[in-house]
This record gives sequence, structure tokens and C-alpha cells, in this order.
Amino acid sequence: MSTIFFLLLAACGSGSGFTDPSREFGPERPTEGAPHAVHIHQPPGLGVADVDLADARGVRLGVPCATCHGDNAEGPWVERDDAPQDFHGNVALEHGTLSCDSCHQSDDRTKLHLADGELLDITDAMTLCAQCHGVQYRDYTHGSHGGMTGHWDLQRGGRDRNNCVDCHFPHSPAYEQVMPVHPPRDRYLDLDDSHQEGH
Ligand code: HEC
Ligand code: HEC
Ligand code: HEC
Ligand code: HEC
Repeated sequence: MSTIFFLLLAACGSGSGFTDPSREFGPERPTEGAPHAVHIHQPPGLGVADVDLADARGVRLGVPCATCHGDNAEGPWVERDDAPQDFHGNVALEHGTLSCDSCHQSDDRTKLHLADGELLDITDAMTLCAQCHGVQYRDYTHGSHGGMTGHWDLQRGGRDRNNCVDCHFPHSPAYEQVMPVHPPRDRYLDLDDSHQEGH
């Protein structure tokens, strides 16, 4: 019995066993530098303000931040006397006690910023979220938050991931509470008396 065990050990240690890469042991394993990419979805409207306008086909129009906040010949439009003060009245902020300027750069509305002042493009919203939500961001990078479609093994194909802002609106990120639906109807658990009398 013990001889067989030693023979087995010797076979493993000899170098021609499990460590030999030319031998096939079932499906391929993921390796460094996997050939397929992880693609994170970029919502198309990032970096444009949602104004109540639609084009002739009814497609909602977004206006780039710089249209009003950017410098032009007469200075930024928003600084003129006739500019409305509460223009973004449709932005209802329910995100802790944050203010607009916790995330948006005050002298360049085309940018977001981190706590140390580093500027981010609005399309880089996930870096902003990760700064304050490290736990969820870590879970996201492990694949246990945020969902995915595609392949676990990147040798076999690519993977598509959602953006934080696909699911969480940055201004009011809480997930809406849902009404639980009725349980599936099980007629054998039906406690209705008249039903039981039938048996
Ligand atoms: C159609 C014009 C227009 C567009 C487009 C626009 N803004 Fe504004 N925005 C304004 C006006 C007007 C104000 C109010 C004046 C001010 O605070 O500078 C304002 C104010 C703000 C404020 C400060 C709000 C406050 O209460 O302190 C933020 C933040 C802001 N805009 C972000 C953006 C971002 C980000 C974009 C692009 C995604 C954008 N805006 C696009 C007109 C615009
Ligand atoms: C937690 C960070 C955060 C705060 C606080 C915040 N924003 Fe934003 N905002 C974002 C991000 C990220 C985007 C781009 C992603 C998106 O549009 O979904 C955005 C997009 C926008 C847009 C363009 C989209 C739209 O809804 O029209 C406007 C305008 C805007 N913000 C204005 C404001 C104003 C005004 C405030 C304060 C009342 C504010 N934001 C507070 C992070 C923030
Ligand atoms: C500057 C820090 C900061 C940034 C940046 C930030 N958050 Fe938050 N977030 C907070 C705080 C503070 C709370 C409130 C925590 C609480 O009430 O327990 C919060 C709460 C949340 C919640 C829970 C809301 C609820 O009521 O259940 C979600 C979801 C969330 N944030 C998502 C995001 C996303 C997505 C982004 C990026 C667009 C983001 N946050 C950016 C600080 C931040
Ligand atoms: C596929 C949709 C989806 C994506 C993408 C997503 N989340 Fe969430 N997130 C959820 C759901 C669902 C919850 C749970 C809501 C609940 O428990 O009420 C949640 C909860 C949260 C919370 C609140 C946690 C708490 O305990 O209250 C934070 C913060 C958060 N997510 C941040 C993020 C960040 C940051 C990203 C991007 C790295 C992200 N989420 C991406 C769906 C998503």
C-alpha cells in the first residue's frame, strides 16, 4: 500500500506530472495577459445636460455643459445677469449630505473632481464613485456587485460590465424599494376549508 503511495509521489515530483504545461488536463485555465477584454458600458448621455427638448424624431436632446458654462466671446453664459439661477431645478439631490460641488468642479462644469482636487472627465464617473464607496467598488472588481454578462474565463471570450451610473443615478443613487410579489400559488398548501372538504 505505502509503496504505491511513494510511487505516486515520485511521479508527481519528477517534473513530467501536473506541472508539465504540454500535458492537457481538461479545459484551459485563465492565464496572465488574457486575450479578451472586459468592457465597461458607457451610457451615451454622460457629459450632457438633460434638458426638456427633443429633435424632430422625438429623440431627447442633451446639451453639453460647455454650451452654457464654457467661455465664449462674452464670457460664460451662466455668469450673465439674465441667466436663471436655479437652472438645474430638475436635479434633485438625495445623496448623503453632499453638495453639487462635492463632485462637480465649480470653475469647470465639464469636469468632476476627487477630494484631492484631481479633475476627472464626466465619463470617468466610476473613479468618482470608487473614491467614497471603496467596499462596493472592491466587490464590483471581484464581480459580486454590479452584474456582468460574458465569460468568467477571458481566454474564451470577452465580458461586459455595467457602469455604476447604469444602475445608480448619481444624484439620488438609492435603489427604489420594490413591492414583493405574491408567492407562487401552491394548490396543495391551499388552506381554504371548502377545498379540503372535497377529499
Ligand atoms: C442650457 C444651459 C446650461 C447647460 C447646458 C448646463 N448648465 Fe449648469 N447651470 C446653468 C445655469 C444657468 C446655472 C446657474 C448659474 C450658476 O450657478 O452658475 C447652472 C449651475 C450649475 C451648477 C451649480 C448649481 C448650484 O446650485 O450650485 C452645476 C453643478 C452645474 N450647473 C452643472 C452642470 C453640468 C455638469 C452640466 C453638463 C452636464 C451643465 N451644468 C450644463 C446652465 C446650464
Ligand atoms: C455624488 C456626486 C455628484 C453630486 C453631489 C452631484 N452630481 Fe451632478 N453628476 C454627477 C455625475 C457622476 C454625473 C454624470 C453621470 C450621469 O449623468 O448619470 C452628473 C451629471 C450631472 C448633470 C448632467 C445630467 C443631467 O441630469 O442633466 C447635471 C446637469 C448635473 N450633474 C448637475 C448637478 C447639480 C446642479 C448638482 C447639485 C444640486 C449635482 N449635479 C450634484 C455627480 C454628482
Ligand atoms: C464625496 C463622497 C461620495 C461620492 C463621490 C459618491 N458618494 Fe455615494 N454616498 C456618499 C454618502 C456620504 C452617502 C450616504 C451614506 C449613508 O447615508 O449611509 C452615499 C450613499 C450612496 C448610496 C446609498 C444610497 C441609499 O440611500 O441607500 C449609493 C447607492 C451611492 N452612494 C452610490 C454612489 C455612486 C454610484 C457614486 C458615483 C456616481 C457615488 N455614490 C459617489 C458619498 C459619496
Ligand atoms: C447592476 C446594477 C448595479 C450596478 C452596476 C452597481 N450597483 Fe450598487 N447596488 C445595486 C443594488 C441592487 C444595490 C442594493 C440595493 C439595496 O440593497 O437596497 C446596490 C447598492 C449599492 C450601495 C449601497 C449599499 C448599502 O449597503 O446601502 C452602494 C454604495 C453602491 N451600490 C455603489 C455602487 C458602485 C460604486 C458601483 C460601481 C462600481 C455600483 N454600485 C454598481 C445595483 C448595482
